[in-house]
Parts: sequence; C-alpha cells; structure tokens
Amino acid sequence: MNAPFAPPPQSLASQSLASEPVVRVRGLSRRFTAKGVLNGVDLDIRRGEFVALLGRSGCGKSTLLRALARLDHEAEGGGEIVVPERRSVVFQDARLLPWKRVLDNVVLGLGGADAQARGVRALLEVELPGREDSWPYELSGGEQQRVALARSLVREPEVLLADEPFGALDALTRIRMHALLKRLSEAHRPAVLLVTHDVDEAIELAHRVVILEQGRVAADIAVDLPPEDPERSVRFAALRRQLLGRLGVAEREPTSHPAEPGDRHDPTA
Ligand SMILES: Nc1ncnc2c1ncn2[C@@H]1O[C@H](COP(=O)(O)OP(=O)(O)O)[C@@H](O)[C@H]1O
Ligand SMILES: [Mg+2]
Repeated sequence: MNAPFAPPPQSLASQSLASEPVVRVRGLSRRFTAKGVLNGVDLDIRRGEFVALLGRSGCGKSTLLRALARLDHEAEGGGEIVVPERRSVVFQDARLLPWKRVLDNVVLGLGGADAQARGVRALLEVELPGREDSWPYELSGGEQQRVALARSLVREPEVLLADEPFGALDALTRIRMHALLKRLSEAHRPAVLLVTHDVDEAIELAHRVVILEQGRVAADIAVDLPPEDPERSVRFAALRRQLLGRLGVAEREPTSHPAEPGDRHDPTA
C-alpha cells in the first residue's frame, strides 16, 4: 500500500541525530499527596521506537504518560522531561466530539489548505474510507478508536502516547487494532509509549517493554522476536512468563478458545 502521507520533513541534522532519544526522562518524580507516585523515573525513547509500559494497577503508568503529554498540572514533582512539541495522545475512550462529523473530528484544529485532504487520507489509512460524514455515534467502539488514531497521525506526531487504547475493545477487534497500530507506527515512525496491562499486547507490538514498579523503571526488556524466527512462539511464551513473573502474576493454563476481554492475563485485575 502506498503511504498516503508525505514523509515528515527531515533535515540532515535530524537524520544524523536519528539515534538520539526524542523522549528523555530523568529523575522524574510526581506526587498528588504526601505519598509519591513516581520516584525517579529514567526513560529514553528513540524515533521509530515502540515502548510498552507495564505495571500493576495504580503504579503510576497514566501519571507518567500524562507527565509526558504535559497534562499533569494537578501533580507536583520534579525531574527532567524532554519531549517533542509534536505529540499525540490516545486514551481508552476515543474522545470524539459527538456534534462533529468524523472528518471534522480528525482535522479539528489542523491548519493548512490541505487539512481536509490529509484527513481523508488519514481515514483511508485507518481503514475507514468513505466514513468522513458519519457521526461518531454511528461507529462501533473499534471504529471510533480508529478515528482517534487518524486524528493523532494526521498531525504527524514525533511521539505518540497511548494509554490503554484498546482496553475497552473486544478481543477480535483488539487483534485487528494491534495489526493496524503496528503498520501505522512502522510507516510513520513516531516514538511510541503504549501503556497497557496486557502482556501479550506489549510483546506483540513493542521493541522494548518497560516495567514500572514503586515509582521507578524496574525492568527494561528488549523484545527481539522476528516473525520469521522458527522459535518465535517458544520465545514469545518464555518472554511472557518472564514478564508475568516480573509483575508477580502466575501464568494461567492456556485456554482452547479465543480470549474474551476479561480472559487475558491481567496483572492489574
Ligand atoms: N489526579 C489525581 N489526584 C490524586 N491522586 C491521583 C490522581 N491521579 C492519580 N492518582 C493516584 O496516583 C496513583 C497512580 O495512578 P495512575 O498513574 O492512574 O496508575 P496506573 O495508570 O498505573 O493504574 C494512584 O494511587 C492514583 O490513585
Ligand atoms: Mg492508568
């Protein structure tokens, strides 16, 4: 498939700095009350790198993501955050404006004479051709989330921050969304931080899995499972065991039927 977006402008300087992290976090602390949530988080994410963030419920994953999105005005704390201005955030709910049609949601606030055309192309990329004039309520949950992805990607973000974006979707829709997000992130190559509680999702999508524990990065594990590796499923299972162990969750027996939404390994349950 042709990439309908023009590649983002890239100067020679930025090419030579391609291995420099675009997201850089040092000694990040955040607290809401006297008790700290984040206590010295260090994290780098490079252009084109897909990082999944795992951790128990309440460990501070969303707090970290909101800090990177600069949406955490209610929190106190310190530390260093370097994050590009061109960033997009996707949440569990699509957060579409119900009184605006799909295309208007995608291009909301987008300048330039070609905004509409870019929006149409973005909808094509998320496999929603011809839905420009639909209302959000006419779309399924998965379709709404695809509109949210189109709204993010049409801005050509240097960093995509996603907080459990597929958490509310059924298992089959989630699998389709995984394939879509993988394809889009490979085509556009933003730095990605995906918060998830789904270990399989993390392994399937990420280049690195980071585990947050007691307010810090407790593990940073590379995922190196090329699809052509004949040992892939064995190595996938071993990595899943390692991550579940790290999260303090015993692995359940595999089920013989497709997983239901509540049927995944959910260390936060
Ligand atoms: N706006 C807020 N005000 C007060 N406490 C908060 C706020 N946001 C999060 N917290 C607390 O910070 C902790 C971490 O929350 P969060 O980052 O949402 O966890 P996670 O996303 O890992 O489940 C939790 O104890 C939560 O109750
Ligand atoms: Mg959260």
